[in-house]
Amino acid sequence: MAEVIIVKNQQEAGRIYARSVADLIKNKPDAVLGLATGSSPLAAYEELAKIIENEKIDVSRVRGFALDEYIGLPLSHPQSYHSTIHRTVVEPLGLDPANVRVPGDVLEGAPLSDSARVAHAGEEYDKAIAAAGGVDVQILGIGTDGHVGFNEPGSSLASGTRVKTLAQQTREDNARFFDNDVDKVPTHCITQGIGTILKARHLVLLAFGEGKAEAVAETVEGGVSSFCPASALQLHPHATVIVDEEAASRLRHKDYYRWAYAHKPAWQSI
Ligand code: F6R
Repeated sequence: MAEVIIVKNQQEAGRIYARSVADLIKNKPDAVLGLATGSSPLAAYEELAKIIENEKIDVSRVRGFALDEYIGLPLSHPQSYHSTIHRTVVEPLGLDPANVRVPGDVLEGAPLSDSARVAHAGEEYDKAIAAAGGVDVQILGIGTDGHVGFNEPGSSLASGTRVKTLAQQTREDNARFFDNDVDKVPTHCITQGIGTILKARHLVLLAFGEGKAEAVAETVEGGVSSFCPASALQLHPHATVIVDEEAASRLRHKDYYRWAYAHKPAWQSI
């Protein structure tokens, strides 16, 4: 069972994540951060950037691995996850770009048909994460269909990083980043698998807004099922789910989660 924290807004969620990550980096200057794109983590990155600046934390050795990337977009495309991670994480946090990897980096926009480059990229990415000593803390958003990374419903809960076909729902959700034109959203991606994500030592899932309420309830209180890939978090020994009131609205045990967080021992971090 994950720890569920219900917060007022994205900034409050971001501060909780940022405090935990800042303390991690102070204790382990070469910490490995698992990074996500999308709207949900943006406030968390902003809060972390503020703490790094205010507390003058040395991040020169911090490493990062992103969750996923579209296939077929040039790396320089503003909506490639390579560009997005650099714009929203690497630059504001002041990380060394050489220390941060996105699964599509080696593909350089290669099309899906380029099997020589695309087919083994996932395996290589998982090896690189393992060689770095594994991810210390993985930030996650969740899709309205319960995906994490781009592991769409039906994804193996033991999967490694690999090529996936995006669900039509996900392409429609993400059309907002592509001039609201769903046809511009790529059809395929390379994503860390659920098995890869579960190897991270700490998972922090952020979800905001009514649109995520059903997926959050399935994730936290439903059965573990590949039809809600995020429900695999229930199998992880250290998972934290931070949600606003709207995203928490369909949780049955809200009162318990609030009570438990209010009575959390002061020495216990998330
Ligand atoms: C992004 C990712 C996706 C998003 C999810 C939610 O790297 O892996 O799983 O986290 O689609 O997106 P937002 O936060 O934009 O609602």
